[in-house]
Amino acid sequence: MEYLTLGRTGLNVSVAGLGCGGASRLGQGYGESHAHSVGIVKAAMDLGINFIDTAAVYGTEPIVGEAVAGRREDIVISTKLPIVPPGASALGQDLISGEDLAVSLEKSLTRLGSDYVDILHLHGVVPAQYEYCLRELVPVLQRFRDQGKIRFLGLTERFIYDPQHAMLNRALEDDVWDVVMTGFNLINQSARQRVFIPAGEKSVGALIMFAVRRALSNPEALQAMLGELVNEGLVDPNAFAADDPLGFLRTLGGAETVVDGAYRFCRHEARTGVVLTGTGSADHLRENVASITSPALAPDCVIRLEQLFGAIDSVSCN
Ligand SMILES: NC(=O)c1ccc[n+]([C@@H]2O[C@H](COP(=O)([O-])OP(=O)(O)OC[C@H]3O[C@@H](n4cnc5c(N)ncnc54)[C@H](OP(=O)(O)O)[C@@H]3O)[C@@H](O)[C@H]2O)c1
Repeated sequence: MEYLTLGRTGLNVSVAGLGCGGASRLGQGYGESHAHSVGIVKAAMDLGINFIDTAAVYGTEPIVGEAVAGRREDIVISTKLPIVPPGASALGQDLISGEDLAVSLEKSLTRLGSDYVDILHLHGVVPAQYEYCLRELVPVLQRFRDQGKIRFLGLTERFIYDPQHAMLNRALEDDVWDVVMTGFNLINQSARQRVFIPAGEKSVGALIMFAVRRALSNPEALQAMLGELVNEGLVDPNAFAADDPLGFLRTLGGAETVVDGAYRFCRHEARTGVVLTGTGSADHLRENVASITSPALAPDCVIRLEQLFGAIDSVSCN
């Protein structure tokens, strides 16, 4: 495993982070047992991963808490609290109060079996919700930090609805956040300009999600997404082979598979921190850690990816 310093937090974190959400939720998303999922977290730690990302809404905080028991001080736990009440629209203006946020944090601490979290994020904020968060919820987060219940303040975007990073781009004007989590992958590279550069200017740590999502782990979904981009005139259909559109990741880039190429592309992006990988499969976990710790794709391949997709900011690859 390789480690890096996560921006202004000074935390020494593994370049691969375990994501306990996504569709898999450590296997809980497709019916694996609690013990299986605890085993995935332990396998990740055995591979040298010390950065674990979960959230109140994933249902995986108790799994993380159980897996890290006895090793808590060696692990960086990143968790997230929802900003909308249960049942309310994730994109709406019905937002929780500071008191609700405090209650929610106490519940997360109980589920994690810990008296602190390392990074506490507001979860999935959309542009129209940001000013409220800044005004009403950030003071509460700062109070938690003063009380020692959280170490650093984090913010995550809702990439599927905000693939152009309008929320994080606005948030990075404020000198409030220690860490941000953004969507970035070899198709939508727009976080480079809109998140990584402004975050780097303030030494804000950047976490990458969506490195591999459905379209980059499922050939049919990839074909469908590229077909839409071609129809919209956003990519040139003659620029890649119809039956194996990202085959050049192997032939030109030196990747083993699309998934391998996708993780390596993210890992070697400048100014970034942890690349998150979520899975319920111990085999996938091992493969993905091997990819994230592999050398960069060949420079010609990276240039080709920028030429082909560098202007795309309308899809998340979900
Ligand atoms: N707004 C937010 O705050 C937000 C949103 C999304 C995600 N996140 C966080 O970021 C983490 C990463 O999320 P993500 O969106 O990048 O998705 P992800 O959770 O990493 O999911 C990747 C998907 O690809 C599959 N996969 C993994 N390795 C594979 C391999 N080697 N070959 C084929 N398929 C593979 C997994 O299924 P298998 O189980 O079959 O491996 C999984 O369904 C999440 O777990 C979560 O912690 C945060």
